Parts: sequence; structure tokens; C-alpha cells
Amino acid sequence: MSLVPKHKLFDSWLAIEALVTIQNRVTTADRDLIGSMIAACTNNFTMSPYRGMKYPQLLKGLRDVGIVKSPVAPSKDACREVVNYFSNTRCYNAHTPVYGDKVLRTPQDTAKHFNYGSYTLDQVIKCPHLLEFALNNDILDIVGGYLGCLPTLYSMNTFWTFPISNPGLTHDYHRDEDDYKFLVVFVYWTDVEAGEGEFYFIPQTHDHSMMNAYIGSKRREGGDMESLLSGVDDFDALRRMSGGNGYGNADFYTKLFGNKMEQVAGEAGTTFISDTFGIHRGSRPQTRPRLTTWFRFGLYANAGYHAEKIIPVPRSAVEGRVNLDDARNKFICRLLIQDDTGSSDDESAAAPVQRDAKDPKTWGKVSRNEMCPCGSGKRYKHCHGSLS
Ligand SMILES: [Fe+2]
Repeated sequence: MSLVPKHKLFDSWLAIEALVTIQNRVTTADRDLIGSMIAACTNNFTMSPYRGMKYPQLLKGLRDVGIVKSPVAPSKDACREVVNYFSNTRCYNAHTPVYGDKVLRTPQDTAKHFNYGSYTLDQVIKCPHLLEFALNNDILDIVGGYLGCLPTLYSMNTFWTFPISNPGLTHDYHRDEDDYKFLVVFVYWTDVEAGEGEFYFIPQTHDHSMMNAYIGSKRREGGDMESLLSGVDDFDALRRMSGGNGYGNADFYTKLFGNKMEQVAGEAGTTFISDTFGIHRGSRPQTRPRLTTWFRFGLYANAGYHAEKIIPVPRSAVEGRVNLDDARNKFICRLLIQDDTGSSDDESAAAPVQRDAKDPKTWGKVSRNEMCPCGSGKRYKHCHGSLS
């Protein structure tokens, strides 16, 4: 049975135009409803075997809180191999390549000037263990149970977080608005102790009914809460703050949620699963780099997938590692791995330009406000761009 043709409806231009455009405008209740409808349609043509049967308590915790530690995690040997691979692979200077200056540098050089070092999908997928972990049956059972359908793997990003003094973009509290329903599996490949880049999540901020109840109870406290919540009657009003993703409201969240924060630290291999529609942030390590992978699972070629401008890789990049003749694996990986015909599900994605920092002829078009590709740390308009 082929699972592939029917899903094209969801990944098509129509879905992108319609579903992505309205995704951030519908209410949180409608968002859940539409997500469930897409999941039900997906089940009509995939018959997902992953239904959250293996870890029912964990799944309940995930629904109730929005974040759980994973019962399955990579081995210490796998962690060492992954760290070794990325330590020897040149990276881009942002938490995903699309936000960087397109210059490849060694992680050691990147660490001197930038908060992050990240990799293209092609670089990530060639690393041993990662794709295999994404297709682990227990992981898929939890994710499939949460989403209510066979998951779509739409991002597999690996990045360093370096102990540099200025705060990183993702270190401010925010929410991700990737899909109607999505779930992120995070793996720390390095030891992350408290103060060394741990992840923060505000419990229940992923769920509209729990948030409505919480905001209602806080309003009834009166006093300071009354003025803090003026204009914030429900979850949708909270979500609309700062254009939906909620950046720039850390003080507000601290006052509203107090010390109701989950933190995840742990040794190399620590794996946790979170609905990052809930409010969360990363943090800056103090003394040594942190290496993390996020595996993002959703319903279709969603807003998060398009924002990252991911370039799918040919099957040959992972040949012999996972069985892509298996219809379910093929469905799960369809946005990241091209099929046999060489066509991809996203022909519109543009490859990052391979720029050599020392050779301006390789830079192509640089926008005036981009960081200068020479690596000076200045904007292009104040550096090489001021000469032209
Ligand atoms: Fe995020």
C-alpha cells in the first residue's frame, strides 16, 4: 500500500496558503479542533500504529503539563559519537542556518563571536544515530499518541549554544507557532547542569482550557493581578501578545506564573518531549558549549517547516541506515528525504549560499542589515557594504 499520494493534499500549495495563513488567527480552541481534524484525515490513509499505548501515564503528563522527560534516550557511546561528529563539522552562526550569515566556520571559531552554531539538514542527517532515534518506535508511539496520527517529521535541527556574554534569540520566553498540533523531542548530547544552558518551560501554557482556568483564577485574586491582567481576559488575549509568539514579555510571565517553571538539566543523553506551543526558553551556558538536537513532529508541511527553509536530502544520504521502502517511514520522513524520483516536497526552498568569509566574490547578494559575512560582527552596511 502506498501512503504517499493522498498526503500531498496537506503538503500542497493550497494547504500552505490556507492552513498556514489562518493558523495564527484562529482561536486556541479552533486550533485544537483543526489539528484533530487533520489528524483524523491523516489516519484515514495511514492507519498509524503509533497510538500512545506504551506509556499512557507519560502521555497524560505531557497533556497535563506540556513537558516530560523521555523514557528512551541515546546511549553514552552515541552521545560521544554525535559530539565528535559535530565538533569536526563546520557550522552556521545562528540557532538554525536560515537566520545566520551563511558563512561556514569551525565550531571553535564560531564560539568566539556567536551564541549559536547550527547545521543544514544535509549535515545533520549524515550524523550517525539521529535519524534512527527519530524513528525509534517508542518515540513515535508517544508522539503519535499526542498528535493523534502518524507523525510528520518536519525538522531535525542540531545546534551548539556557546557561553558568550550576549543573550541568544531563543533565550527570551516565547511560544512556537509551527502547526495546529506539534511536539518537539529534544536531546542534550553534552552534559547540561543547572546554569549550563538548561531549558525552561511554563507548565500548562500549551493548553487553552487550562490557561483559561488559570487566568480566571488569577483575575479573581484581584490586587496586582487585576491590573497585570487588564486586557488579558483569556488564553487568546495572552497568545496575541507580541504578535502571537510572545517574545519580549518575560517580566509579565514572571509576574503571572511566579515560580511555576519547569527546568530541564541532565547529563549527556537527557531527552525530553515538549509541546512548545507552551511558553518556553533556552538559556546561555556559563562555561562550556551545549549541543542539542530538536526533532519536530507535526501534521503536514507546516509554518515551522517553511520558516526554516529546509532543503530535503536525497535518499542516498541515509542509504542502509533506515528502511525508506517502508511506507510509514517514508511518510514520516517525506518532507526531509526526497523520494526515488528525485523530486522533493518543497521545490521552493532556497539553499543557503556557501560563502567564504575571506572572498567577497562568493557572498552573492547580502542585505544591508545582515551581519557582514567577513565575520567582523558588524552589520554589512557598516562593514564591507559601506564600501560598495
Ligand atoms: Fe522555541
